[in-house]
Amino acid sequence: MSIPTGLEPFSLSGRAALVTGGAGGIGLAIARALGEAGAKVTVGDLPSESTTAAADSIGARFVALDVRSSASVDAAVATVLESEGRLDVAVNCAGIRHLGGPATDVTDDDWATVMDINSSGVFRCCRAEGRAMLNAGAGSIVNIASMSAYAVNRPQPQATYNASKAAVVMLTKSLAVEWAKRGVRVNSISPGYVETPLTERSRTMPERLEEWLRLTPMARLAQPHEIAGAAIFLASDASTFVTGTDIAVDGGYTAA
Ligand SMILES: NC(=O)c1ccc[n+]([C@@H]2O[C@H](COP(=O)([O-])OP(=O)(O)OC[C@H]3O[C@@H](n4cnc5c(N)ncnc54)[C@H](O)[C@@H]3O)[C@@H](O)[C@H]2O)c1
Repeated sequence: MSIPTGLEPFSLSGRAALVTGGAGGIGLAIARALGEAGAKVTVGDLPSESTTAAADSIGARFVALDVRSSASVDAAVATVLESEGRLDVAVNCAGIRHLGGPATDVTDDDWATVMDINSSGVFRCCRAEGRAMLNAGAGSIVNIASMSAYAVNRPQPQATYNASKAAVVMLTKSLAVEWAKRGVRVNSISPGYVETPLTERSRTMPERLEEWLRLTPMARLAQPHEIAGAAIFLASDASTFVTGTDIAVDGGYTAA
């Protein structure tokens, strides 16, 4: 095996990538960065004018995708395979915030919706992407979990969201071990608080925001592009011996 030089291992030239939730704050920043690293990127998201415009804005292909439906996820992966002839990289970013407030107020519907999108949705994506990659004997899957998989956020109660993200971390490790000898790596990224539409409502609540900053050693929120570096690392050959791990990108939140 020849030893690659310089930044060569970080290049995604010639690779095909799918980013689910790719029209959102973090997803779009990752999709843009994957494209800049050389990948042919497909943004998968719920179909609307704004999601297709987001994909257009970075020169990515758009595929309609609802992670609540296995058929929709399978069809989106099939579309990438058809148009690009391959799937090398998948970043599973589609997700929603906590619903229902304090645990005693969370309805069965709230619980089911958050789990369906944040946990089962990631499983449906990994399964479809994994089938394609295992067939080819190569690929890298990056799941977007959250620091909430490890640390209980304060002051807002969000038990369901936290549980949904813990599931993503363990699913990631399980698939990584299951597929380790077959060329497919599976890792996750756990962001701290990021300035995206998902945190928009909370950021208008001064007491909540103040507590977030107090509990974050770097005393600020992340910008979406700050999550992308870890995704490039995990997606590329810079991380060929990395699987089943989680990278915290949280300004020190889970270290404190
Ligand atoms: N913003 C944060 O502070 C933060 C922190 C940690 C983890 N995360 C995680 O990062 C991921 C991206 O979050 P974000 O902050 O960019 O949020 P966002 O709301 O900006 O983006 C989420 C994207 O997911 C898409 N989506 C939602 N439901 C979907 C479905 N059923 N099928 C397909 N796509 C769907 C949305 O259309 C949107 O484009 C989420 O999984 C979120 O839980 C966010």
